[in-house]
Amino acid sequence: MIIVIDFGSQFNQLIARRVREHNVYCQVEPADISLDRIKELDPKGIILSGGPSSIYEENSPSVDTALFDLGIPVLGICYGMHFMVHALGGVIQRARKREYGFAKLQIQTECPLFKDMESAFQCWMSHGDSAIELPKGFVVTASTENTAIAAVADHKKQFYGLQFHPEVEHSVNGSVMIKHFLFDVCLCERNWTMTSFAEGAIAQIKDAVGDQKVIMGLSGGVDSSVAATLIHKAIGKNLYCIFVDNGLLRHNEKTQLEKRLVANLDMNIKFVDASETFLAALKGITDPETKRKIIGSLFIQVFDAEAKTIPGAGFLGQGTLYPDIIESRSAFGGPTSIIKSHHNVGGLPKKMKLKLIEPLQLLFKDEVRKLGLTLGIHEDLIWRQPFPGPGLAIRIMGDVTPERLDILRQTDTILLEEIRKAGLYRKLWQSFAVLLPVKSVGVMGDKRTFANCVAIRAVNSNDAMTADWAKLPHELLGKISNRIINEVDDINRVVYDITSKPPGTIEWE
Ligand code: XMP
Repeated sequence: MIIVIDFGSQFNQLIARRVREHNVYCQVEPADISLDRIKELDPKGIILSGGPSSIYEENSPSVDTALFDLGIPVLGICYGMHFMVHALGGVIQRARKREYGFAKLQIQTECPLFKDMESAFQCWMSHGDSAIELPKGFVVTASTENTAIAAVADHKKQFYGLQFHPEVEHSVNGSVMIKHFLFDVCLCERNWTMTSFAEGAIAQIKDAVGDQKVIMGLSGGVDSSVAATLIHKAIGKNLYCIFVDNGLLRHNEKTQLEKRLVANLDMNIKFVDASETFLAALKGITDPETKRKIIGSLFIQVFDAEAKTIPGAGFLGQGTLYPDIIESRSAFGGPTSIIKSHHNVGGLPKKMKLKLIEPLQLLFKDEVRKLGLTLGIHEDLIWRQPFPGPGLAIRIMGDVTPERLDILRQTDTILLEEIRKAGLYRKLWQSFAVLLPVKSVGVMGDKRTFANCVAIRAVNSNDAMTADWAKLPHELLGKISNRIINEVDDINRVVYDITSKPPGTIEWE
């Protein structure tokens, strides 16, 4: 195992992912981790992450410097390198000017991280401060035009520092440097694979649950489907899944889930049709937050009532992922202000008094997908674009009625069909239609029309925190618009949303 000490860099999760891509297990730990805990984890190597602070700032993050006496190899990246150099007696200088973007890295002296590499290549920098004097035992291993000390090493102690970010793709050879650190310096073994993870997780679940029952809410999304499949492999029919049909699903959603999880994997799923209850509660409601609150609390009520019909349940399964865990405890990162009150099956009632079982809590999204494929889940489910818990209700501006849901379902089906045909479904983060609360005038077959308008939204994103509107080909947009207007009654206008996030959000409500 490798541990990454979190100094608040926006890239620290990326570092962990890069390590895991080389099949070595890696965990992100807060900077206030105790020395005893580090010893207990017994890592083969420690990576000190970058961070937004300057080493001389008050309250800049720091980790117990006794870790440098443990005899464990250390790689410091950006702030992590400054921290190490400073802690071991070197000097860091506050820069007048930030260096940001590409730079040409020139290798100066031999270093295992740069093994078999050409003498100069591109790296990606983002720093204010620089090292100007090194601690005893350290040498400069690479420089750039603006930064004389761009990489350092104390070969004897196996301490390495990189001023640039090897974890970002713009740094040529970055992933190879991490690989060299793992295998040539730390002597790690490649034993982190989704097959080995699944075996371990299944054994752990069996052990923890015994012959008790587990309840789990399914949303139809990747995370809850993979978590449920894993739990199902461990305890079979003692897993009771509940799928609440809130009447706000897209066309075919429930059938798809039945086919993939019940028919293919023989899971025990109860489908609860609560659509009438939800639609009745939403009648006349137009305010987005009120819609969200109603849907969220109704979901809990319906789920709770269903759960009570399963006697003797001791556990609640959830599809929580590693980024949620890191963000919720990080002193530096994490969500700041609530823009929308999110609802999903993860937010279940605390009062349920069930023990939580979260088998994906150590995994990143791409690992969850790999795991799902390893467990035999169909690709359709694994590569499904995200769909919000409140469903189509937040894609219908204004009143949510059965008629308007029907219009949106037909539109969305056409849109997704065309996006799939164009081979773009997996490439886009999300693509969907939004029904607007306006009507406009048109002319169809020589007749005046006065009908609804839909907006098409397609975005590229890595994590939904930020997103770019997708530059879909004009021919494709034309085809989508033609089909929607010809095939869906009551729509005579289609517009394309060209707002990125920020300032827009992905969903309209
Ligand atoms: P926004 O609209 O905030 O959405 O830019 C970011 C991502 O979150 C999804 N989303 C939700 N997911 N429950 C969910 O499970 C929700 O209430 C919810 N609201 C938005 C949205 O589809 C996008 O991927």
